[in-house]
Amino acid sequence: MNTAQTLSAFEQRFDTSPEVVIRSPGRVNLIGDHTDYNEGFVLPIAIDRSILVAIRGTNSQHVEVHSDFFDQTVQIPVREDSGDAVESWSQYIVGVLAMLRRQQIPLTGLQMWIGGDLPPGAGLASSAALEVGVARGLLELAGRRMSPVALATMCRAAESEFAGSPCGIMDQLCCTSATANHALFIDCRSMTTQQIPLSLDDAVIVVIDSGVRHEIAHSQYAERRRECAAALDALRSTKISIRSLRDVTLQSMPGAVAALDGVLARRVRHVVTENARVAEAVSAMREGDLVSLGWLMTDSHESLRDDYEVSCKELDTLVTIATEIEGVFGARMTGGGFGGCAVAVVAKNAVEELTKVIQKKYNGRFKADAQVFPVQSVARAEAVEFSTA
Ligand code: GLA
Repeated sequence: MNTAQTLSAFEQRFDTSPEVVIRSPGRVNLIGDHTDYNEGFVLPIAIDRSILVAIRGTNSQHVEVHSDFFDQTVQIPVREDSGDAVESWSQYIVGVLAMLRRQQIPLTGLQMWIGGDLPPGAGLASSAALEVGVARGLLELAGRRMSPVALATMCRAAESEFAGSPCGIMDQLCCTSATANHALFIDCRSMTTQQIPLSLDDAVIVVIDSGVRHEIAHSQYAERRRECAAALDALRSTKISIRSLRDVTLQSMPGAVAALDGVLARRVRHVVTENARVAEAVSAMREGDLVSLGWLMTDSHESLRDDYEVSCKELDTLVTIATEIEGVFGARMTGGGFGGCAVAVVAKNAVEELTKVIQKKYNGRFKADAQVFPVQSVARAEAVEFSTA
């Protein structure tokens, strides 16, 4: 769905045109998973798959929202913190409205239409794109601005409080801060970012959607967070003085790991080695060294699979298939895990072969087929220019 289609869908539904349309991108993380909530490092790009949010203010006491993805319309009271049994996708919007109210942003009744080409639930941060898109649109209508960090922090809080998902800051901050043709290095402790030029030459970033969505993803994510908190407590109760797992370095890791039992030791080893890999990946990218970047990605997958245990057989199969193909520099699962997507850096002339081999060796073997699509790095959520007839 593009802007013109969004405008016409809005007009058909509400019989008027929107005042603002926001394009809010999804993300794929090149490296650095399950590090953000440990105050570590991540390296996502915003991708050319987006949520489009079209909005118009009204005089009513309600926000009427239609989701093109779910083909559902819900009514949310504009002055209360919750709607009556609203659909789960709309909890993100309920959350953003509540957060804006807490920040004294004036809100009116609204007509809102949500569409785009970023599939919900695929592990490409569609929830963050929805939250940031809605928040940006409402700020625009109110004539207010927020810094990228404040906006991301507010949207993350909306998600954890209203959608019950205890996520880190990566997805929202990527959505508020990314620039085109760059990866975004985030230090999740200081919330500072650096734009790392994507000099891929004849290569391209490819997303491989496994097609699987495992139910356990939600509970296992929360469980990993608890394990990290338990590891931190255990380390602090020894003489190791740290504020978060990010403070364990490659040098101090052997001592830390020796102080913990098996599972917690492996979780810590993933976090520590993954942070080191992100730093190395940034250097490799600055030097245009795709071979090293690829190795780091593949190592990262192994660490997420064996030490952090957030992969699944579908993602492992995709990564194995991909990395055996000539012209694939590296591949790994990306995001929270237990399904969703893998990401690969691939020579342009090998993309067709990759697609063919995945169709042959993966499709038909699991419940769902995989989709392979190259992505471009785009800019953060922004208002779209448009004119109406
Ligand atoms: C999800 C969360 C992020 C991050 C990743 C794993 O996408 O929303 O905050 O923790 O998982 O890296």
